[in-house]
Amino acid sequence: MGFPELPVPGSAGVRRRRLLAGLAGAVGLAASAGAAAWVGGAFDPRLVTPDGPLVARTEAARRRAGASTVTAWLHPRPVTHDLGGPTVATWGYADSGPGPLIRARAGDLLRVEVANDLPMSTSVHWHGVALRNDMDGVPGLTQRPIPAGGRHTYEFTVPDPGAYFYHPHSGVQLDRALYGVLLVDDPHEAGDHDQEWVVVLDDWVDGTGRTPEDVLAALRSMGGMDHGGMGGMPGPSSGGMAPMTSPLLGGAGDVAHPYHLVNGRVPGAPVTLAGRPGQRARIRLVNAASDTAYRVALGGHRLTVTHTDGFPVVPATTDALLLGMGERADLLITLGDGAFPLFAAAEGKTGQGLAMVRTGAGDPPDGTVRAAELDRRLLTTGTLRAAPQVALTDRRPDRVHRVVLGGGMMPYRWTINGATFDHADPLLVSRGERVRLEFVNTTTMFHPMHVHGHTFGVAGGGARKDTVIVPPGRTVAVDLDADNPGQWMTHCHNAYHAETGMMVNLAYRA
Ligand code: C2O
Ligand code: CU
Repeated sequence: MGFPELPVPGSAGVRRRRLLAGLAGAVGLAASAGAAAWVGGAFDPRLVTPDGPLVARTEAARRRAGASTVTAWLHPRPVTHDLGGPTVATWGYADSGPGPLIRARAGDLLRVEVANDLPMSTSVHWHGVALRNDMDGVPGLTQRPIPAGGRHTYEFTVPDPGAYFYHPHSGVQLDRALYGVLLVDDPHEAGDHDQEWVVVLDDWVDGTGRTPEDVLAALRSMGGMDHGGMGGMPGPSSGGMAPMTSPLLGGAGDVAHPYHLVNGRVPGAPVTLAGRPGQRARIRLVNAASDTAYRVALGGHRLTVTHTDGFPVVPATTDALLLGMGERADLLITLGDGAFPLFAAAEGKTGQGLAMVRTGAGDPPDGTVRAAELDRRLLTTGTLRAAPQVALTDRRPDRVHRVVLGGGMMPYRWTINGATFDHADPLLVSRGERVRLEFVNTTTMFHPMHVHGHTFGVAGGGARKDTVIVPPGRTVAVDLDADNPGQWMTHCHNAYHAETGMMVNLAYRA
């Protein structure tokens, strides 16, 4: 999800020369913006600079007198994770499971020190947070990469309450254990629950004989679907050569991840979420997978969805919820008496993640039997309505960008408006505009489209979100207020799609 080759300020000129060749006027502006550079780099003066005065002023306006400073420490490093049976050598922020939970209150200043002990450069992106652009964590666009052995400090105000997450924006590092949850509490929220559980879903391949980089190389060289194992042969638990498709999503993924994890555990050794009968539990659900949407249900219960991507919705009750990569949802549940399976079925794939909810005695449920709720009423976040207090004002878009999603498996290459990221014209916007993005999916797969630094509204009063599923052959329009100047990645949250081109810069004019 980063730049395969990271330009450095001196050499960025090579790319700029190529991009500028044969261009004139507004077209030149558009194309050169793709090479927008960070601190100290050559930068097009017609665009907002990530570390320039406008971004600093926007941040200053977010600061609140008396706000606390929350400090945290991240140490990306090689680790060995016990997944609850299989043990894997990987890279992570912690000795097991997701990285440390970082928790602040809306308006706080967050200061995170990163010490990179990976054998390669990395970065940390704060997914969903409307933060200052130079802290967004995109090497080559908003900062220099953090080199192996290097340190970097991120410091920014967290303006909006909600459930967010953090991960590298470097290659396909997200497909390792490099992810963690950032919760921003609302000082004014009543907190209508007795238990709070953070539940992180992930598809897993690293350390099972292949790294995510191996998977990427195989997809690039062979084209077509990855079925695990070598030479396209079925892997041990890959579901064989069955196509990974779903009636809802069409092509549901490219990679047969051998495992699906909940909080870093395989279904054979699930985490237990403990409560008491009759209590209200709030689940902060995060899909940190690279290539898998999950259908989530709790046996014997209904789920009430109260938030998605941090922002409140008109509460909706369902049996199951579909969550794409990069999406989050808050669920409210009234707990029954006993032990219940929390299922995360890999949509269109073989396999599932599992956690146990326990409030009383009783045998642990059979985690291999598909919960009936999964096949009852299914909600997708795209159909949720924004809660009135966060709904966008009624306003005609000042600018409409069509964002055509293209590409495919042969060759393995994914595009926006016909181009891979390094050739893509930025989506230019001006401060103060209401901007509509029309995601037009011309492919046979779904793409969870994510916009950095903003929370859009799904057009027509839909939920406020930062990541939305665009099903194959469909168009999803979203509206945002251009109120956070900078250079912002807009991309598919399938790590393999983003890395092979499905990314574009949403670029503010100076
Ligand atoms: Cu989780 Cu560029 O995003
Ligand atoms: Cu995609």
